[in-house]
Amino acid sequence: MANVVVVGSQWGDEGKGKIVDWLSEQADVIVRFQGGHNAGHTLVIDGVSYKLSLLPSGVARSGKLSVIGNGVVVDPHAFVSEVERITAQGVTVGPENLRIAENATLILSLHRELDALREESSTGTRIGTTKRGIGPAYEDKVGRRAIRVMDLKNLSTLPAKIERLLAHHNPLRRGLGQPEILAEAIFEELSSVADKMLPYIDSVWRLLDGQRREGKRILFEGAQGALLDIDHGTYPFVTSSNTVAGQAATGCGLGPNSIDYVLGITKAYTTRVGEGPFPTEQKNEVGEFLGTRGREFGTVTGRQRRCGWFDAVLVRQTVCTSGISGIALTKLDVLDGLDEIKICVAYELDGERIDYLPASQGAQERVKPIYESLPGWKESTEGARSWADLPAQAVKYVRLVEELIGAPVALLSTSPERDDTILVQNPFQD
Ligand code: IMP
Repeated sequence: MANVVVVGSQWGDEGKGKIVDWLSEQADVIVRFQGGHNAGHTLVIDGVSYKLSLLPSGVARSGKLSVIGNGVVVDPHAFVSEVERITAQGVTVGPENLRIAENATLILSLHRELDALREESSTGTRIGTTKRGIGPAYEDKVGRRAIRVMDLKNLSTLPAKIERLLAHHNPLRRGLGQPEILAEAIFEELSSVADKMLPYIDSVWRLLDGQRREGKRILFEGAQGALLDIDHGTYPFVTSSNTVAGQAATGCGLGPNSIDYVLGITKAYTTRVGEGPFPTEQKNEVGEFLGTRGREFGTVTGRQRRCGWFDAVLVRQTVCTSGISGIALTKLDVLDGLDEIKICVAYELDGERIDYLPASQGAQERVKPIYESLPGWKESTEGARSWADLPAQAVKYVRLVEELIGAPVALLSTSPERDDTILVQNPFQD
């Protein structure tokens, strides 16, 4: 019985929704292990579209257990409103199918404000965050002053914790020219939502240990992408969590031996939202073509995504840092009709050829892509369901991608429709 981790192998927005949906149908338990409501996963089930940011994708399917692990940062108001929104769509959501780790960190309004203040400030580095308070909440977790989900169970312990938190935040706010926050306001913010959260709170490591022993199939649902990882991504233009597959274990309290297969969702070209280096970015008609054909607008913030050629150097690196067993290649059809398609096979850095993304910010900004060029194809690949449906040039492109990144294509997605998929290997039957 295989447990599968799904991660984005680029900068997020690789099309995880469709693949996670397909896999979640086969899984018993679906676990989020990092990030928060900065994610944007759209699921289409029986023609109905569900937009999820915080809840695991399993929540929209009956008979599945969805779990928010300790590695996630949880905005309690976002949690409650997402549960209400999905419930209004006719989905049953309750403690029988949704649990949240007692040791997960809470995102408060002061985190959201701080995130926005920093982004809007004229000094400092603008990251282009989703302004959901993700980074500031993780900072408090690591700073050992966070308020956690379990604290909602025992409101009498909150005042001391709030005091400790504000001893850090109020001086920070004063420095930013902002009014101080009263402890009572934070208490009210939390106590007003506590009752709605309580039924879902659980000891997730114990719950998942039990599920694993019963032989249940677990799908670990990653958010964002490996290049946004706080350690392995394009620092500082990253999110504040570990997005690589190893986090699936620590982010819910299972050991690494509970992971059997890592599926890297990989777009047939590259996109990124927000600031930061992007060696193969095309600020020209190619970028416009990819953005328009690929409908590259963010689902959470509506921002236009930056677009460029496929970067095999980056994905090869991700295959290593996430231990990717196979990839799901998405949006191949967006490349239909191009005369020429380029793939970045290496970089030039200060006159030298290198085959990896250097760790330093300065070097990441200086690398120049070295491309291999292929003729494109005129036929449509949209909706292809077998290799025989693909033009020969498209097959060549896919084979070259596999060779360059050092991982096989397990699935090839040729449209947003779930049946428009070429299945080579089912990760759950590895
Ligand atoms: P944060 O996660 O809101 O702190 O944003 C940090 C960086 O991660 C920014 O560049 C965001 O655009 C990016 N980011 C966060 N969540 C997503 C996502 O779900 N898809 C793509 N990029 C994301």
